[in-house]
Amino acid sequence: MTTHTAKKADQVIIFDTTLRDGEQSAGAGLTVGEKVRIAHQLGRLNVDVIEAGFAGSSPGDFEAVRRISHEVEGPVICSLARAVETDIEAAARALEGAAKPRIHTFISSSDVHLMHQMRRDRETIMNMAVDAVEKAKGYVDDVEFSPMDATRTAPEYLYAMLEAAIRAGATTVNVPDTVGYSNPAEFGELIKGVFDNVSNIDQAVVSVHCHNDLGLSVANSLAAIENGARQIEGCVNGLGERAGNAALEEVIMAVVTRPDHYGVQTGVNVREINATSRMISSIFGFPVQYNKAIVGQNAFRHSSGIHQDGYLKERTTFEIMSPEDVGWRGEALVLGKLSGRAGLRSRLRDLGYQLNDEELSDVFIAFKDLADNKREVTDADLEALMREQHRYADTNRRYKLGKVHVICGNDEMPSGNVSMTTPDEDDRSASAEGTGPVDAVCKAIDSIVDLDVELTEFSVSSVTEGIDALGEVTIRIEHNGSTYSGRGSDTDIVVASAKAYVNAINRALMISELEGEPLTATV
Ligand code: KIV
Ligand code: ZN
Repeated sequence: MTTHTAKKADQVIIFDTTLRDGEQSAGAGLTVGEKVRIAHQLGRLNVDVIEAGFAGSSPGDFEAVRRISHEVEGPVICSLARAVETDIEAAARALEGAAKPRIHTFISSSDVHLMHQMRRDRETIMNMAVDAVEKAKGYVDDVEFSPMDATRTAPEYLYAMLEAAIRAGATTVNVPDTVGYSNPAEFGELIKGVFDNVSNIDQAVVSVHCHNDLGLSVANSLAAIENGARQIEGCVNGLGERAGNAALEEVIMAVVTRPDHYGVQTGVNVREINATSRMISSIFGFPVQYNKAIVGQNAFRHSSGIHQDGYLKERTTFEIMSPEDVGWRGEALVLGKLSGRAGLRSRLRDLGYQLNDEELSDVFIAFKDLADNKREVTDADLEALMREQHRYADTNRRYKLGKVHVICGNDEMPSGNVSMTTPDEDDRSASAEGTGPVDAVCKAIDSIVDLDVELTEFSVSSVTEGIDALGEVTIRIEHNGSTYSGRGSDTDIVVASAKAYVNAINRALMISELEGEPLTATV
């Protein structure tokens, strides 16, 4: 057994699946470069396991697992694989560069799945599970097995399957509440049942993977810890399929804040929680709700007079954790046009961006441009600026937006003109009219870009307060039945919209190029 699967009674293994289950959030879709950036930040957060993707599902996922295996040091790197040979082989190949590789293989176990989706009987499925674990074990020592839809599976069959998987070599057995059906009392009992009924359970780590359909995923995960589970799977910001997975930062801070109750510890560097949450929200294009526990922007704001009074007299009257514990740094160091490279570098490092000299030089030019238009450059502005830089780097050989020009008003037909460079380095420009300036600019872009897309979502928000604020536009487009998001920011919201639209188009081109044929059966 490796150190990461070795059991210490009071250690909870934190398994992050933001890049796999999190990426299954409808409307998400990351480039390989974005996944690698997130994985580096998860490394700084010091999670124990990163599920980097589902290598057999597409060339894009394969490449992400492969690059993360080579580039990210520290955590165990894991790939998901169905209980079929081709998936397990793909996972093993993608993980070749990892110092600590794990294959996570899964198969459905509930009767409803067996009857309607798998169309196979229990015995056949049991054999497939055992074969898959044995096959994975031929490649790596560290093998995790998951019976999908465990909480709607007949308990005796579930216990027998976990026992067989451990006998075949699984070092972690995971109990997924795939459809978010369970509740804390029942789920805790199920985990206790696993310990009481699986005879070789002492040879594996018991893990749980809870979905949030009824809003109970964190509570269910904590109930599992109370009953002996020692690996928790989840996603930062609670991302994931449908209503998402357990929000890892909530589980982590619950056990950190209440050691008296849970009696366990994690190796997570909790001071990186805030930077990780912000980076993931920004790259996924999914805002964090204001009142979200731990990472929402109101999570540590006291508003009522009585609370403020108590807090000012003694912080602990109304605060059970301090914002600094999870990496909130306040806005003490606001940058402006007189700020230098060292100040910028240090602030960006606090926000989770480690830049080399060349990258810093590029960002510094963009920062100075912004500071000329804006009195104060805040953390939120810097994050928007980093998104722009990364978008540019990720989509370097794609469509590049040049000038944007619009004519509009309440007495004329809006029209827009854009200039762009195509992937073949061809300089083009086009004009169009539209129902408004944004529509006109998007139509002009459409006439240059030869791609069948439909704009399905458009939202604009202000990055900070004030009339000089950066506007940030998020756009979602559909192309060949898949959704791709794009974001752009600028002090001019029409320009921000054009940047977001081009960014979405470039992502659609990059991701669909790598994705190839979709799987017939996904998770
Ligand atoms: O929700 C689920 O059951 C899963 C498995 C693949 C673990 O994501
Ligand atoms: Zn899941």
